[in-house]
Amino acid sequence: MTSSTSAVGAPSLEVRTLATGYGDLQVVWDVSFAVHPGQITALVGRNGSGKTSTLRAISGLNKLTGGSVHLLGEDAGTAGVAERVHRGLAYVQEGKRVFRRLTVEQNLILGAHTRRLSRTELRDQLTGTYDLFPILQEKSGALAGSMSGGQQQMLAIGQALMAKPQVLMLDEPSGGLAPAIVAEVMARIGALADAGLGILLVEQSIDAALNIAHDVVVLDNGRVSFAGRVSESHPDQIREAVLGEYVGAIGLQRSNKAVGSVETKEQDMGGRSH
Ligand SMILES: Nc1ncnc2c1ncn2[C@@H]1O[C@H](COP(=O)(O)OP(=O)(O)OP(=O)(O)O)[C@@H](O)[C@H]1O
Ligand SMILES: [Mg+2]
Repeated sequence: MTSSTSAVGAPSLEVRTLATGYGDLQVVWDVSFAVHPGQITALVGRNGSGKTSTLRAISGLNKLTGGSVHLLGEDAGTAGVAERVHRGLAYVQEGKRVFRRLTVEQNLILGAHTRRLSRTELRDQLTGTYDLFPILQEKSGALAGSMSGGQQQMLAIGQALMAKPQVLMLDEPSGGLAPAIVAEVMARIGALADAGLGILLVEQSIDAALNIAHDVVVLDNGRVSFAGRVSESHPDQIREAVLGEYVGAIGLQRSNKAVGSVETKEQDMGGRSH
């Protein structure tokens, strides 16, 4: 396994040897990675590989059964969910978690409820979010439920941004969206990183994730099967780590997992891996 450390300053989020599960069932073992300010770490892997469970453990929704979570250099592994939000962690869960019967602006304002903002601060925060997602300003008075899937995804992200996070975790933001819309949502996510946010991006669409990510971590059966800088990794190597034995079954040349050692045939394996 290659470490994803890099010379980009102190991490906003650092996960070390994380383990988690549900009751007695352990589903994630020994997962380590970092998210740096202004950078995107993509967490990819097949269905059931433990991506969502890892995000839940970082957010505090699932208990850590091992390892640690540091937010902005401080241990957050035993902090409650709200405390982690307060300390700069935002989490957009899989699926669109917007209030369909509230307006776009009401949804955004709810996103700021963990921070006690004055009216002026709230207005500034709204303005900042509208600058990032002009479509939300255009539709500010519309019911969230009347918007398209892509717009609702942007609203969910905008709502998370209202809490002024330093780290944003996104679970499959491309889920259920048409390819053209995925490209737009991904471009927005890239812009958020460019503006300085650290982003942990869970994606099944490997190519979409690799287009914007700086670091990549692959989970397989709850363990890291590959990790490295995207710029230093061969896409096939990452796809192989994601697809595992499936790659052998369809005839791609198998290889070991060391960075830079792979000479596999260029073949488009993007899209959902199931
Ligand atoms: N609430 C739960 N109770 C028990 N087991 C669960 C629960 N949620 C997930 N699991 C199990 O934990 C493992 C990891 O699931 P998880 O949802 O984290 O994977 P994932 O990588 O996010 O998958 P997907 O790509 O389908 O979203 C799977 O074996 C899954 O069945
Ligand atoms: Mg999941």
